[in-house]
Formats: sequence, structure tokens, C-alpha cells
Amino acid sequence: MSQSEDFPSTFSIQTEHLHISYFQPDDPTHTAFLVQLWTTEDFIQSCGKPGIVNTEKAANFLRNHVQAGYKRNGYHQFLVSLKSHNGATLSESKPIGIVSLIKGEPPNAYLRPDIGYTILPDESGKGYATEAAAGLLDYAQKYLGIDGVFGFCDKDNKRSARVLEKIGLEYRGQRKLRVFGGNESAVYALKGMDQDLKLYGIGDDE
Ligand SMILES: CC(C)(COP(=O)(O)OP(=O)(O)OC[C@H]1O[C@@H](n2cnc3c(N)ncnc32)[C@H](O)[C@@H]1OP(=O)(O)O)[C@@H](O)C(=O)NCCC(=O)NCCS
Repeated sequence: MSQSEDFPSTFSIQTEHLHISYFQPDDPTHTAFLVQLWTTEDFIQSCGKPGIVNTEKAANFLRNHVQAGYKRNGYHQFLVSLKSHNGATLSESKPIGIVSLIKGEPPNAYLRPDIGYTILPDESGKGYATEAAAGLLDYAQKYLGIDGVFGFCDKDNKRSARVLEKIGLEYRGQRKLRVFGGNESAVYALKGMDQDLKLYGIGDDE
């Protein structure tokens, strides 16, 4: 089976207002959207300058990281599209963001994935990051066998922290993380995960 058959363009996880679907490197609307999303002032201020500044780089990124993550784990970054009307299909819906579950890449992978999101500035503040993250989390727990999820964000990123709290994650302190090149991050974890984060590969001494 080819990658696109494994992760079909027609599949989506549906929530009330959104479709959550696989990124396709050969779809020009997906690569253009990624460049648009990651070059907004809002994204750059929160997450830093991206390396993905043109559609060719976006296609390579989707092939080498996102699709590779789907193959390795069954998940990575997903496209979030807003339904144009109640019951709209995926193709009738407009890309507005990303929601992700990422474990890091070997040798820096953790034992559990972290959940992340970005929403276009024009569509921010309407609850969509929360809706997408809750939808993906629910799907991952039911169908991907995921029972533990982290959330990482800069301590000053209050909007992101609030989304993590709203989907049920708890603050577990500040840690230096391998996946962020040893930089410090606020760490959140799902309720019910063992208190000892070392079990999951995140120690105090990172
Ligand atoms: C973070 C981000 C995804 C949030 O998306 P969103 O769709 O606006 O999120 P939601 O509307 O679901 O929830 C945002 C929450 O933050 C709250 N919020 C907004 N600004 C805030 C602030 N300065 N301080 C505290 N809370 C704030 C909102 O009120 C809302 O909470 P509420 O429902 O309790 O009122 C979006 O702002 C974004 O893409 N930012 C840039 C990229 C980024 O930082 N990604 C996360 C990397 S860790």
C-alpha cells in the first residue's frame, strides 16, 4: 500500500465545527496552508521563526516528518478544517489550523506523545484549538491505544496553557526538554498518568 492509501485524504475525525484529517504532501492546498500558518506574526511570536517558508519545503516536511510519523506511530500533525455549515464535508471545509500528537523523533522520542496546536489568527479565540485537541485526544484514546499524553508550552504562552487545562491536562512543573534542544518548557500531563514523569522518559534532570 502507498502512504496515501494508508492515510487517506478522505478520512477525517469530525467534531461539531471541525474536520481533523491527514496532511497530504502532494496536495498544493495543504503545502500552501502550512506556509501561511507558520509565517503569521502570531505564530512567529509564540513559536519562533519556522524553517518552512515555501511550498517545496512544506512538501518535504510533510513527507519526511509528518507522513513518516504516521507510518511510525499512526499519528503526527493533522490538518484542522472549519465546516462551512452544519454537516459540511471535509472538501467543503476551510483549513484553519493544525493539531498534533508527536512523540519526538528517535533518538529524542519520549514514551508518550505531546499534544499541540496552531490556529490562524483570524480564527483564534473561538474555541477551535480546544475543540480540535479534545477531538484528537478522544480519538487517540479510543482508536490509537494512547493512554498517556503530555502538553508542552512556553511558560508565557497563556493561551496554549489554557487549552491544555481545558482538555484535562494538569501542570507538572518546568523542565528542560530534549525535544526542545534542552530548553525549558512548562510540562502538563493527563490526569491518571503516573506522578513520576521519569517513567515516561521526562526526568527532573533533563
Ligand atoms: C494557542 C492557540 C492555538 C489557541 O487557539 P484558540 O483557538 O484561540 O484557543 P481556544 O479559543 O480554544 O482557547 C483559548 C483560551 O485561552 C484564553 N486566553 C486567550 N488569551 C489569554 C491570555 N492572554 N491569558 C490567559 N488566557 C488567555 C481564552 O480566553 C481561551 O480560554 P477560555 O475558553 O477559558 O476563555 C492560538 O492562539 C495559536 O495558534 N497561537 C500561536 C501558536 C501557538 O502558540 N501554539 C501553541 C504552541 S505550544
